[in-house]
Amino acid sequence: MNSFDDLFAHYPPEVAPFMHQMLADYRAKQPYKGFTIAHNVPLTQTTLMKIACLKAAGADTVVTNPSFMTEDKDTIKVLANENVHYVPLEFVNGEFDFLLDCGAELVDSCYARKGIVELTRTGAMRYQQHKEFHVPIVSVDDTRLKCLETCLGTGEGVYRAITQIANIVLTNKNILIFGYGKVGIGIAYYFSKITPNIIIAEADRERLTLIEQRGYQSVDAKQSQLIEHAAEASDLIITATGLKDIISDNYHSGAFKDKLLANAGAEDEFGFAFEASEVLADKKPVNFILKEPTLMEFLDPIFFAHNIAIDDALNNKQTGFRALDQKADEEIVGQWAKHHGWTVEKLNTIF
Ligand SMILES: NC(=O)c1ccc[n+]([C@@H]2O[C@H](COP(=O)([O-])OP(=O)(O)OC[C@H]3O[C@@H](n4cnc5c(N)ncnc54)[C@H](O)[C@@H]3O)[C@@H](O)[C@H]2O)c1
Repeated sequence: MNSFDDLFAHYPPEVAPFMHQMLADYRAKQPYKGFTIAHNVPLTQTTLMKIACLKAAGADTVVTNPSFMTEDKDTIKVLANENVHYVPLEFVNGEFDFLLDCGAELVDSCYARKGIVELTRTGAMRYQQHKEFHVPIVSVDDTRLKCLETCLGTGEGVYRAITQIANIVLTNKNILIFGYGKVGIGIAYYFSKITPNIIIAEADRERLTLIEQRGYQSVDAKQSQLIEHAAEASDLIITATGLKDIISDNYHSGAFKDKLLANAGAEDEFGFAFEASEVLADKKPVNFILKEPTLMEFLDPIFFAHNIAIDDALNNKQTGFRALDQKADEEIVGQWAKHHGWTVEKLNTIF
């Protein structure tokens, strides 16, 4: 892939309706002509579609890549072909009209004249600590539409990765999932299509009740004996709590040995009692073995929201931290559901 056009041809409107619509609108109206933008979002091939929209909008965009991601050389080549500046994060500084940020990594080195948009929970928390801020800071993390990516997108990616690399057929097998947060909810949803035998371990009381209400079996993570029994009876065990060493710290590792193990979290959740070779994908988030860890259809709405949050900041100049306008959030979820053959009611039963 050499150009933005190649990307838009690769992901047609059926897959990425928001990006295609945004590109057409921005080309026609050039709403950000003369704006300068610093763009810090994991720089993958798919992210280029979002950057293409900003270019079409007339913005002069400096693109960088968050510190926790390795630079993708092919992606940087496409940016060079498109005359969009790529600058490593440590060299991005100065004044911009907008900071489109991930993990609040631009806040110390860059000054925003008109507004800031943040993508993640970690970044939102960092920006929230700034009690006084001279511009609006709009978070697209505190939204329903973010669940399309984190819940459904990650759940589908984890399901796709495990079913691709597992050496057994998982239909009707026993599955134990740790954590029923955003990621765990999506994993349980996708595996529930192939097996009714799902047990979910949780530490939070309300979540334990929710698990039962959703028709799964729950087990209190503090009940180590019950957990070990459940692990022994499982074929596949997946972690999605976000907590390092959660299994090694709390349970006898013997109950987990010789099972198919997979981690969906960013940390090594199985931990020190397990060799990398005992966990699929060497303990890394298992969907990252895939060429597309999250499918474009789940990234499309969040990319769209991260760009239109600029308008949110321009329309409502109240300074300080806030979530993206709720009406815009609901509209995006509704449009996404309609386009991809879901209903909002169905989505509401999942997240
Ligand atoms: N693989 C991916 O592509 C991907 C995508 C997004 C997030 N993540 C990662 O997935 C992890 C989970 O993220 P999330 O957004 O679902 O977090 P979350 O905070 O929404 O959910 C975590 C859940 O784990 C529960 N929990 C805490 N301690 C537990 C224990 N001892 N046993 C069982 N459950 C316990 C919590 O009560 C909570 O419900 C994080 O590491 C996150 O970075 C991965």
